[in-house]
Amino acid sequence: MLRIYKKSDYESMSRQVANLIAAQVTLKPKSVLGLATGSTPNGAYKYLIESCKQGDLSFAEISTVNLDEYVGLAPDHEQSYRYYMNDNLFNHVDIKLENTHVPNGLATHPTQECLQYEQLIADLGGVDLQLLGMGHNGHIAFNEPSESYTKITNVVDLAERTIQANSIYFENDVNKVPKQAFTMGIGSIMRARKIVIAVSGAEKAESLVKAFQGPITPSLPASILQVHHDVVLVADEAALSKF
Ligand code: F6R
Repeated sequence: MLRIYKKSDYESMSRQVANLIAAQVTLKPKSVLGLATGSTPNGAYKYLIESCKQGDLSFAEISTVNLDEYVGLAPDHEQSYRYYMNDNLFNHVDIKLENTHVPNGLATHPTQECLQYEQLIADLGGVDLQLLGMGHNGHIAFNEPSESYTKITNVVDLAERTIQANSIYFENDVNKVPKQAFTMGIGSIMRARKIVIAVSGAEKAESLVKAFQGPITPSLPASILQVHHDVVLVADEAALSKF
């Protein structure tokens, strides 16, 4: 089932996403949250931090698993997703850092890292709520457009468009952007009990309408969400302008 929240702008989209996560955390304080990085969830994380500081919300018993991490970046590298999560959420709420999980970008045995990450998700009991953003090309996590869906956590080559989009975080230099990433597979994402996907901006409008109203195809990875039983799309008017 798909529910759509159409919000006027990025800020109100962010408040809605934060409210959905807060509801999950409140109703099930031991929830396993699947989290995303990037510019989209940033605003929602700020609202969650605020609620936590006001004493309205507690992450004390929450566990988290992140969607992805760049291959080759150390956890303390400022552009690593581990750094992003600590900096934008974990360091400001009462979560126990040992209960937060991000693939290890420096893993010496990438295949093993992928299998271990998948096992970790299973050992935690699966993801209760998975937060997603969407790339301009319709990617979710780092599952880029391709000919088939990946089932589990794996290592992928980033698409040229993704490298370009993410170069803003690497001094606008595409050469500094890692070319590979660990990512949960489409299968890992689809196993989450609830999915919240947040999308903002007119430049994603075309991919967004295709994802939810077009054919289901791995060439537009987000389109698989049409067959998930519990998806909430929170988007601003600009992103929904082609619906
Ligand atoms: C990040 C992730 C990516 C982003 C997507 C959109 O953990 O999984 O799929 O959600 O690239 O990025 P932003 O939000 O920066 O536009």
